[in-house]
Amino acid sequence: MGLSEEIKRRRTFAIISHPDAGKTTLTEKLLLFGGAIHIAGAVKSNKIKKTATSDWMEIEKQRGISVATSVMAFDYDGFKINILDTPGHQDFQEDTFRTLTAVDSVIIVVDCAKGVEAQTRKLMNVCRMRNTPVIVFVNKMDRNGNNAFDLMDELEKELNIRVRPLTWPINQGDKFKGVYNIYEHKLNLYTPSKQVVTENIEFKDINSPELEKHIGEEDAQQLRDDLDLINGVYSDLDVNEYLAGQVAPVFFGSALNNFGVKELLDCFCKIAPSPQPTQTVERIVKPEEEAFSGFVFKIHANMDPNHRSCIAFVKVCSGKFERNVNYKHVRHNKLLKFSAPTCFMAQRKETVDEAWPGDIVGLPDSGGTFKIGDTLTSGENIHFKGLPSFSPEMFKYIENDDPMKAKQLAKGIEQLMDEGVAQVFTNQFNGRKIIGTVGQLQFEVIQYRLLHEYNAKCRWEPINLYKACWIESDDAEALDNFKKRKYQFMAKDKEDRDVFLADSGYILQMAQTDFPKIRFHFSSEF
Ligand code: G4P
Repeated sequence: MGLSEEIKRRRTFAIISHPDAGKTTLTEKLLLFGGAIHIAGAVKSNKIKKTATSDWMEIEKQRGISVATSVMAFDYDGFKINILDTPGHQDFQEDTFRTLTAVDSVIIVVDCAKGVEAQTRKLMNVCRMRNTPVIVFVNKMDRNGNNAFDLMDELEKELNIRVRPLTWPINQGDKFKGVYNIYEHKLNLYTPSKQVVTENIEFKDINSPELEKHIGEEDAQQLRDDLDLINGVYSDLDVNEYLAGQVAPVFFGSALNNFGVKELLDCFCKIAPSPQPTQTVERIVKPEEEAFSGFVFKIHANMDPNHRSCIAFVKVCSGKFERNVNYKHVRHNKLLKFSAPTCFMAQRKETVDEAWPGDIVGLPDSGGTFKIGDTLTSGENIHFKGLPSFSPEMFKYIENDDPMKAKQLAKGIEQLMDEGVAQVFTNQFNGRKIIGTVGQLQFEVIQYRLLHEYNAKCRWEPINLYKACWIESDDAEALDNFKKRKYQFMAKDKEDRDVFLADSGYILQMAQTDFPKIRFHFSSEF
């Protein structure tokens, strides 16, 4: 197969949801279809259970699991599907944001009883920034939940996107009878089972009395009324609108019972985008270009404390990646070749000889060679964009707790920040380093990893901060004036950019009003 065939058959996506909506269960069912696993229960959730926040062994164990399930690739019906896993715990949402930059589309799982929850809303905002196409799977229809039309309204309002149901549920909870597949005109009857895939019944004429025989009088009438309403309210699915991120097809089912999953997968293969062009600072890179290029969107540390090594996850953006071929590490301006690149098939990690656009390759890195956002190419000097850091929400001063180990600490902080564990800012007034995170758990992870991987001890000291935001201005004098006025609250990020540390929402608002020539940014890419 040539480059363009390989591109056409690839689908690289992520499943996102609020914890417990059923992401792991759905992933597992998709892998079962691909024949990548053979039994239910084989995919372990990588979520860090709420009770485990202080249980280090547990977190380490779970982090170990999450490397195995970071990317799950499988073949299905001639397609090569790459599912990129995202951490369930909200304290690691930066990781999820970055993973979303490496996918071409997204499936959102929503619990039918809980509707759109906080984390789904947040992640959807990230999808919207890039107009990522989304498909919604309303899960747990075997349980009593909200009325399906109310859910549609909620999805539209909360996710800020138009929806178009492609299947429609027939009752729910104990009385759940199945779904009607609107776009294929098929009736899909439900039998509760974790393994069996139900057969679809061709059902073109919904007014046929046959319908009563299958689902009873009441539900048949309700379904007809519902479908009338759907056809009146929602326009037909326009795939181009879906691809532009303007409309989201919606499916109903029960991941646990493997119900409605095949419909989702089949439609996904048909309409979801193959690898898309990627923006670099210099130009747009098309997947069909012969020359290889890719970027690092995730770095995962090895759990072996005696041997610090990482895997850098590279998304192939164009051309063919090959083992043992020299590629340019653009930031270091150096040629590197990789003798043991890995790919991820379900839960196995295998050495690969080649990879194509849309694929993820794991590159072993023992010496801090890579950091998030690095570009690899066949030789061209380009820099991929779109991996922003977001303004953190929690801050602490990091202090050295062992004077003999200052060097180790500095190196550890630098490498952990390159991995994207958190962000470091250096206060320009007192020279102290501030670590910014989105959750408490990250502070614990940093302290633990500094000790175990770098033999360095750190201590946290409180700092009262509300937000860190990147600032810029077209007016050099205005910028200088701002920095002088706020000198106690100015910091530099890792790339030496100016960051304003606001200690309250009020102070930030005042600064925005008082200094109209300054632009305040809440993500590092502007
Ligand atoms: P997550 O990755 O999104 O966090 O969710 P996960 O798949 O782990 O599912 C969360 C819980 O919801 C699990 O139960 C799972 O079995 C259940 N679940 C998933 N899909 C369905 C469904 O279609 N119907 C019903 N009734 N339940 C579903 P758990 O008790 O937390 O875990 P487990 O002991 O079953 O593994």
